[in-house]
Amino acid sequence: MKFLVTGGAGYIGVELCRQLLDAGHDVVVVDRFYFGLDPLKDIEGRLTLINGDLRSWKDEWLDGIDGVAHLAGLSNDPTAEYNPDANWQMNAVATDVLAKACRRLGVPRLTFGSSASVYDGLGPGMFDETADVKPRGAYSTSKKAAEEFLLAAADDRFSPVILRQGTVYGYSPRMRFDLVVNTFIKDALLHGKLFLHGGGWQWRPLVDVKDVARAHVICLTAPREKVHAQIFNVMQENYQVRQLAMLVSGSLSLYERRVQLVDAPLPSIVRDYRCNNIKMTQALGFTPAITVLESIDDILKRVPLDRIQDLCHPRHYNIAWMTLLEQVHVSQREYASIY
Ligand SMILES: NC(=O)c1ccc[n+]([C@@H]2O[C@H](COP(=O)([O-])OP(=O)(O)OC[C@H]3O[C@@H](n4cnc5c(N)ncnc54)[C@H](O)[C@@H]3O)[C@@H](O)[C@H]2O)c1
Repeated sequence: MKFLVTGGAGYIGVELCRQLLDAGHDVVVVDRFYFGLDPLKDIEGRLTLINGDLRSWKDEWLDGIDGVAHLAGLSNDPTAEYNPDANWQMNAVATDVLAKACRRLGVPRLTFGSSASVYDGLGPGMFDETADVKPRGAYSTSKKAAEEFLLAAADDRFSPVILRQGTVYGYSPRMRFDLVVNTFIKDALLHGKLFLHGGGWQWRPLVDVKDVARAHVICLTAPREKVHAQIFNVMQENYQVRQLAMLVSGSLSLYERRVQLVDAPLPSIVRDYRCNNIKMTQALGFTPAITVLESIDDILKRVPLDRIQDLCHPRHYNIAWMTLLEQVHVSQREYASIY
């Protein structure tokens, strides 16, 4: 089969492309390559790459496509809050345009990288896909809107599948160090200290990047009746941030590195929510299984410990990269207006 992966050069996208290729599928990537092409270098020769922005949609991107995995967009709270208009256009409006194009052009299946952060704000409790979610921030609000656009487009010939992904951890060739477990690993290696804001008692559903990619592959290829217009939480387990810090510091002690856990004030925005993965297990027989502990071990083996300063490169932090690129663009514009 032939699949289109939007955002295929991103943290999850690169792993998803690899899994689809290894399963014998053809893969087309549409991405604006915001973080560069380098993460795709090991599989680039096996892909069709399209440098494109979903805000300037082209129907030809769906030529011969059997299914779409839709991952492109702003992918966290800080970038969405920094530019709410771009966030809305990329995450909500572009998803609507894509859904309508799939339906019009007869692409039967689309999986969407939504976020478990839509459960934030519901208060204590363990939530499933039937919860009446009321997201608060720009990012989770746009994800919820995108879900609604997709479900509204569902019909006899078009089956969107919403995957509410927990916070992702683990190694990817396009590494992000702005996700809680990965950030803790970086901070532990660089500073030997982990800060627990408000004691770190907040809950989060978490999942490894390989398991997220696997969930997309399963939902792209499952029989229609199992996934048509369904929402699935994708998570391995709920963890308290404090627990994650302990798992990281304990793992690093095996490398004879001492890590101090430090109490810090609660920030103004705190995300705290839990959900379960029962529906995906029951409907599809798939339960994300790669644990945080296994994933920490894998990252520590892959990160060059003699070059840990590389982990600070702004490319690994979406908001740092976004603000840096804007500064570069501003100075280019200023330069152009002078000369
Ligand atoms: N990583 C997580 O913890 C997590 C959790 C829940 C949901 N998600 C969602 O999963 C998806 C992928 O996340 P990720 O961690 O791989 O993000 P990422 O930021 O690493 O990758 C996003 C990719 O999309 C591309 N892109 C962004 N806007 C685009 C546009 N307008 N047109 C074309 N390409 C565009 C970027 O160039 C990048 O390659 C996102 O939609 C994100 O919101 C991620």
